Order: sequence, then C-alpha cells, then structure tokens
Amino acid sequence: MSSSGDIAELAAALSGARSLCVLTGAGVSAESGVPTFRDPDGLWKKYPIEELATPEAFSRNPMLVWEWYAWRRELMRDAQPNPAHYALADLEDQFAMRPGASFTLVTQNVDGLHERAGSRNILRLHGSVWDLRCTECGCEREDHAVPLDPFPPQCECPAHGEGQKTGQGTGRCSAMMRPAVVWFGEMLPEAALRQSLQAAAASDVFLVVGTSSLVHPAASLPLVAKQQGARLIEINPDPTPLSGLADLTLTGKAGEILAALRPPRRLV
Ligand code: OAD
Repeated sequence: MSSSGDIAELAAALSGARSLCVLTGAGVSAESGVPTFRDPDGLWKKYPIEELATPEAFSRNPMLVWEWYAWRRELMRDAQPNPAHYALADLEDQFAMRPGASFTLVTQNVDGLHERAGSRNILRLHGSVWDLRCTECGCEREDHAVPLDPFPPQCECPAHGEGQKTGQGTGRCSAMMRPAVVWFGEMLPEAALRQSLQAAAASDVFLVVGTSSLVHPAASLPLVAKQQGARLIEINPDPTPLSGLADLTLTGKAGEILAALRPPRRLV
C-alpha cells in the first residue's frame, strides 16, 4: 500500500493540475465486485475471448454471447459504485469550479458505474452494456432492463429499405440487437477516441487507474500524454508495462487510495 507521503504527492499533483486526464480500467470497479479481465480470477481466465467478445463469435452463436452479456448486465446492475468512482466524480466537480481548468474522464469500462457515481462527461472507449445496437439498421437505444424482454432484444426502429426484414406487419425493423460494446477486431467509437487523444495530448497531469495497460489504443493515451510533457501517475496494486514510465506510482486499491483524497462528508 502506498504511503501517506505518496497520497499527499498525488493530492498536490491533482490540485495543481491545469488540465487533468484520467483513464480508468476494470480495476476501478473491482471493489464494486465487477470482475476484471486479466487478474488471476479475471474473466479472460475463465471464458475464451474468441467465443464471447468478437463479431465472429456473435455471428456464430448470438445466444451464447447474449447469455454471457445478460449475466454481466445482471451483475453490473447489482454492483454499487465504490469510493474510487465517487472520488473521480468529486474531482470533476472540483475542476468545474476552477476557472480555466479542464478535466476529462476516459474509461474502458462498460459497466456504467462512473455515471452512477455522478461523473457527467465520460468518454467511453469500449461502449456500454446498457446500450444496444441493431445488427441490421445500426440504430441504438439505451436499455437498462434486467432481464431483457424479449430476449435477445429486437430493434424497435421503424423499418426502412426494400430488402429489410420487418417484424410481422408491425412496421418495425425487429432485427436482433447486439450489445453496443467494442469487441476484439472492431474499431473504437471515432469521436470518443479523437477526444481522448486530444485530452491526453493537452493534459499536464495524466492519471491511470486500474488498467493493465495492455489493450491499445486505450493504452497509448498515457504514452501520448507523457510524450507531450504530462506528469504520469498510476494507481494499481500490481506493476504494469506503464509503471516504469510513471512519475508517481501508487501501489494499492483505487478505492482506498482515491478515498483518501475526498474531504470528509459533513453529517446532516
Ligand atoms: P484488466 O483485467 O486487463 O486489468 C485490470 C487491472 O486492474 C490490473 O492491472 C489489476 O492489477 C488492476 N486492479 C485490480 N484490482 C484493482 C483495484 N482494486 N484498484 C486498482 N486496480 C486494480 O482490465 P483492463 O485494463 O480494463 O476490453 O482491460 C482493458 C480491456 O481489455 C477491457 O476494456 C476489455 C478487456 O478485454 C474489451 O472487452 C474490448
């Protein structure tokens, strides 16, 4: 666990930052009970990526993929934001009150816990399990229903186009929806990636929390920031490929370290 000196240094770096960019990964939700991917009990240790998280897997066996996502949606619905999510939402509020200061939160997480903790401006690089996209017409909708009904979910958009299969006489598209997440081999959402790269390049402090820093392009953001002169700070219980480059490494759990930054709540 990091020392109180490290936490004081983190607090000083954040309060002195003019332009702060934060990148989070699965580790930020670990203390909420959402499994990470590559830790010893992580998802990719138990489930094969190529059967669950590629477009080919979905074409081959959409029900299998949907059942896995239905399980994860249930788990994520039952999870609560932890002190790390709340501390990052607080930081956004603090930066909003400082004239000329800018704060950007970039996440690889699809669980929606940053939003539930009160973060408002989030660049989601890997999509969200709470968004669905039609496999035929591409239209998207937000849907928090657990369980989904019908399952798998169907597109409710008006049908357009001659060749499009429509639900029997409903005038609706009715094609199967998919989770609007990024699977291996797919492109990241272009606007979110562009804005993340801009925020990383413009940052004077870049904070990386709870990611193994193995998956690109997300893992490139701290490198871009560092190249442009940002101070790089990492919070993680374990070393990552980024640790050697970081100017400050806080070893420990995000919830415990970031909670130490929050002012004590006044009791009412
Ligand atoms: P990983 O599972 O690869 O890494 C999780 C990181 O969190 C590890 O470095 C852990 O040491 C760290 N960690 C664990 N508990 C923590 C805690 N309490 N506080 C802080 N850190 C903790 O997850 P990601 O780096 O997010 O992509 O993975 C990146 C992407 O790979 C995911 O978005 C997902 C995955 O495949 C897609 O599905 C496209």
